[in-house]
Amino acid sequence: MEKVGIAILGLGVVGGGTYEILVEHRQFYKKNHNIDFVVESVLERSRERAAALGIEESKIVSNIAEICSNPEVDIVVECIGGIEPAKSFVLAALKSGKSVVTSNKELFCKYSHELERVAKKNNCGLFFEASCVGGVPVIRALLDNLQGNKILSLTGIINGTTNYILTKMAEEGSSYLDVLKEAQSLGYAEADPTSDVEGFDAAYKLSILSSLSFHTKVPFTEIYREGITNIDAVDITYAKQLGYTAKLLAIGKNGENGIEVRVHPALIKTTHPLASVRDSYNAVYITGDSVEDVMLYGRGAGAKPTGSAIVGDIIYCATHPSHTYSTFKNTEKADSVTKFVKNFESEYYIRLAAEDKAGVLSKITALLGKHGISVAQVVQGEERAEGKAPLILITHLTKENNIKKAIAEVNATGIAEVSSFLRVVS
Ligand code: HSE
Repeated sequence: MEKVGIAILGLGVVGGGTYEILVEHRQFYKKNHNIDFVVESVLERSRERAAALGIEESKIVSNIAEICSNPEVDIVVECIGGIEPAKSFVLAALKSGKSVVTSNKELFCKYSHELERVAKKNNCGLFFEASCVGGVPVIRALLDNLQGNKILSLTGIINGTTNYILTKMAEEGSSYLDVLKEAQSLGYAEADPTSDVEGFDAAYKLSILSSLSFHTKVPFTEIYREGITNIDAVDITYAKQLGYTAKLLAIGKNGENGIEVRVHPALIKTTHPLASVRDSYNAVYITGDSVEDVMLYGRGAGAKPTGSAIVGDIIYCATHPSHTYSTFKNTEKADSVTKFVKNFESEYYIRLAAEDKAGVLSKITALLGKHGISVAQVVQGEERAEGKAPLILITHLTKENNIKKAIAEVNATGIAEVSSFLRVVS
């Protein structure tokens, strides 16, 4: 029976989950694949953490060189996260002829070109299923199963923390800060939640997924990014009344005018399949020209779900000896012919505090009309503040710049003030 030796860098949630799966399923994999996957080495500073997983002292190392020089190690699994030291460790492993499996979205998003170049040069595999959407097998779907398609768009709920917060806000009417505190006390949200709540985590993943989907590098820097920190529970309530659900969406489109990539809160119809993705669950809704619509749903984070993606890559690596690489132009920057659409088109939800008297609504709609914005729906809310009534408008499709200009002009009139606006994805 073939033996494949594994080294795990970092025994945090994902590294620990990976270790447990490999140990628990060792006999199962032997039976299925005729391969004995053995964890030969772990790079972990915390001896307690390693001991809690039952890892023998002799397997714990304190530097990457010990792993690179260990002939028993075939595959290195990187679960450290962030750029350094993860990048140096991955490059060292590849240079020493070890294949690498990584769950590191920031590293793969920013340096996939460099890592892949070194992997190719050393004839090593480089696998990254766990970098995006945890246990949901979206990378392999894009790399293999959907290759027959021109991918037209992908829309995802690809951050579990923000989806948990928005679900609680919608279902319990709580404020953003209250839910964030609760999520932190339950361990769902990090003590420093910036990467999740400001949309960085989703943008790293969108960069990888849209590069794979559109066959060209879509750099992180091209992605419009807005987090959920300014979402007001009032808008979630009004949206619900109007038949919409608020989600942090990652959107990638490949249209006639170029590639459009953005991460921001948005309203979707409650009848859309993505609206039913609750709590910390994730989903990616992909539209291809042949397959039409496909939705992949599941756990986007967590020890065993992400470990499942990593172990899937380990098995794939061990059973596919001639390595293949990414199916997009994996360069540092986007191809010079690739155009990115910045002034994108959307429908919009606008909440205003307006004077409640004759002629106000017509003045507002006239101003919007001046910018080519057509109103699809108007609702007047009940809760007045300082004599002003809340007015909610849903527009037809218009350009982002038009909305921003129109909002500035409405605010300048003094008859109404825009309290918030959200993009609506139909
Ligand atoms: N922090 C991420 C999330 C999981 O909340 O979805 C890892 O990417």
